[in-house]
Formats: sequence, C-alpha cells, structure tokens
Amino acid sequence: MILVTGSSGLAGREVASRLAGRAPVRLAFRDPAQGGEGATDAERVRFDFGDPSTFEAALRGVGRVFLLRPPRLARPRRDFGPFVAAMRRAGVGQVVFLSVRGAARNPLLPHHGIERLLEASGLTWTHLRPNDFMQNFATVHRADIRDRDEIWAPAGRGRTSFVDVRDVAGAAARTLTEPGHERRAYTLTGGEAFGLAEVAVLLSEALGRPVAYRNPGIPAFLRHNRAAGRPLALGLVMTGVYTAARLGLAAEVTPDLARLLGRPPTALRSFIGDCEAVWRR
Ligand SMILES: NC(=O)c1ccc[n+]([C@@H]2O[C@H](COP(=O)([O-])OP(=O)(O)OC[C@H]3O[C@@H](n4cnc5c(N)ncnc54)[C@H](OP(=O)(O)O)[C@@H]3O)[C@@H](O)[C@H]2O)c1
Repeated sequence: MILVTGSSGLAGREVASRLAGRAPVRLAFRDPAQGGEGATDAERVRFDFGDPSTFEAALRGVGRVFLLRPPRLARPRRDFGPFVAAMRRAGVGQVVFLSVRGAARNPLLPHHGIERLLEASGLTWTHLRPNDFMQNFATVHRADIRDRDEIWAPAGRGRTSFVDVRDVAGAAARTLTEPGHERRAYTLTGGEAFGLAEVAVLLSEALGRPVAYRNPGIPAFLRHNRAAGRPLALGLVMTGVYTAARLGLAAEVTPDLARLLGRPPTALRSFIGDCEAVWRR
C-alpha cells in the first residue's frame, strides 16, 4: 500500500493519478469529504501532519509513502518529526519526499531540514528535488497573464529550467513502484532553461496577444503582490525563488528526469499549449 500525502494539492493529485492501477493507494486528506474526485479505486483517509491521532490509521499496512511538505509548514522538526517517527514505528519501507532544487545546500529551505530528518531517521528515503513548476504560470501568475498580459517577477535576465509537475509526478510514481532508488536524490528539471522574457514570447504566440515580462525591483514586486491580494508570505517565497533565478542558480539542466521517465521532459511550449485556456479572458 502506498500512502500519498497532499492528495488534494497540485503535486499529490498528479502522483495519485499516476499510481492508479499500478499499486494499491491510500490518499491522505485533511478533510476526505473535501478532497475532490481523486483516483476512484483508491482508499481515502483523514490525515493531518499536526494531529498525531490521524497517523496510525493512515499508516496501517503502508509500505511506501509519498511525502509532501505543505507550503505553510516551515518548521521541519516540529511539523514533520512526529510523522517521521510514526513512519519508522509503522515499519514503512521507503519514503519518497518531494523536496526542491537546491535543498541539499540551502539550510534556509524547510526541505533541507526535512531531508536531514529523513536521512537521520533510519527510514529508506528518496529525495526528488524539482526546479520551479511550469504550473506556476497557471496558478500564481495566472491572473496577471490573463487580465493584464503581464508576467511579474524580480528574476532579471535569469533563466530557469522549469519542470512540468506532471513529469515530477511520473518520476515519483516510478521511484515508488520500482527498486533501485533507495537513498538517492534526483534533481528534476525541464530539458531547457528559459528567461521570463522568452516565456512571455511563448505565451504571446500561443495566446495571439502580446504578453510582456515586467521585471520590478523587490519592493515593487511585493507591493504588486499585496495589491493583487496574495499573502505576503507567498510574495516572499516568490522573491526567494526569482532571486535564485536572477543569480543564475536555477538554469541547470540535469538528465535525472529523462532517465526516470524514459523520455525527454515535457517542453515548455507543450505545457503552454495544454493549458492555454487558463489564460484566455
Ligand atoms: N511550485 C513550485 O514551483 C515548486 C517547485 C519545487 C517544489 N515545490 C514544493 O512542492 C510543495 C507544494 O506542493 P503542491 O504545489 O502540490 O502544494 P499545494 O497544491 O499547495 O497542496 C498542498 C497540500 O498539502 C495539504 N496540507 C496542507 N496542510 C496540511 C496538513 N497540516 N496536514 C496534511 N496535509 C496538509 C493540502 O491539503 P488541504 O486541501 O487540506 O489544504 C494540499 O493537499 C512544497 O513543498 C513546495 O516547496 C514547489
């Protein structure tokens, strides 16, 4: 049995759908009634990282866990320590953790502490470290693109090897269902790095209207986010992400994803074609 945490979210939903039919799956939701459609043949269970009374039922008979760090949980030991200990007690055989690019070297990222926690726990771990998701253009940047024909980000001319979360989920499904990924870490990137001006050109071509890249300073970017109603915490996370890009830290292209999938990663142009409707007015 594979337990998928974060099942109602972007990545967890994709992982669950890729596991469907390949292995028995249990989907973890804070509120199973609100959890959306999900994979129809999967079990559902109530689960909250902050409520240890939910751990036992979630982990009963579970051999492998897809572990997702919800964006609001930022204290590795406090927020994840109890569940890591419970996985150990329950005899979980492997934990595939959705980490983030750069987590190994950056102690400011909560994922860094979670990776360390897993490595010290005695559990068998696999870390997936994806670069920025292409889907961010269809979520956090969506309204600016759809309503104002603009991408706002303080990324300068920095380039990013954006990755499609559907590919990340495919890699997660492989590492959860095949041997050979124990105690391995993979950096998952797209096949090519793009500056945001290039992304704006691809969007313009797909949408048939000009989309511009706005490259504000950090204070202007944070003001723009507030005015758009996004929480300050999200603005700060995005500032960190795009500052890394500006400094040239997000452009690396690795072979890991293509090796795991057995095919090239999804191209940014294909992703934009698939999602085009989300930016139509
Ligand atoms: N976006 C990117 O570019 C990017 C790139 C690399 C890595 N990542 C990493 O990916 C992760 C986010 O994944 P995502 O985009 O799939 O997130 P998401 O769509 O925001 O989903 C978060 C999930 O966590 C669940 N959750 C929230 N609080 C919980 C709690 N206390 N206990 C149990 N479950 C809880 C949510 O369930 P509810 O429905 O109950 O709220 C939801 O299913 C983050 O760790 C992020 O750093 C993101």
